[in-house]
Amino acid sequence: MTRLAVATARQMGLDHEFCETLRQAGLLHDIGKIGISSSILNKPGRLTPEEYEIIKSHPAMGRRILEPISFLREVVPIVYHHHERFDGEGYPEGLTGEEIPLASRVMAVADTYDAMTSDRAYRRGLSHDVAVAELDRCAGTQFDPECVRAFLAAHPEPNRKP
Ligand SMILES: [Fe+2]
Repeated sequence: MTRLAVATARQMGLDHEFCETLRQAGLLHDIGKIGISSSILNKPGRLTPEEYEIIKSHPAMGRRILEPISFLREVVPIVYHHHERFDGEGYPEGLTGEEIPLASRVMAVADTYDAMTSDRAYRRGLSHDVAVAELDRCAGTQFDPECVRAFLAAHPEPNRKP
């Protein structure tokens, strides 16, 4: 997912420093899931409201873990806001549009594509074409349409894992 996000940022013409911070944030974005039980993280069926609240705590937990590390200062807000939605329906703060850090908006697209196309213990991943159609459908609601456009331009082909 980090590779997908950085390729998207390059496509948008963002500079090396932006891409490097995005890369670090990509590697660390779900670090706050440390300590969440794997039975919740890997649960195949629907989460209970209580389980969903626990999952939703991971960006804030990630912030708490990373905050003391001074050289990751710029990574912290990107990690904290990686589950915001462009329409304001995300978490943890319900930010909208450009209130959300650009790197978090880029990451949301790459992360969702990666999640959709990855195999899970309980289901096969979706095809590239189906995942792309879903990104397209959610451009402007879940995602920044600029970021979706750049992601699609950077990834016309199915994602090949190295
Ligand atoms: Fe996450």
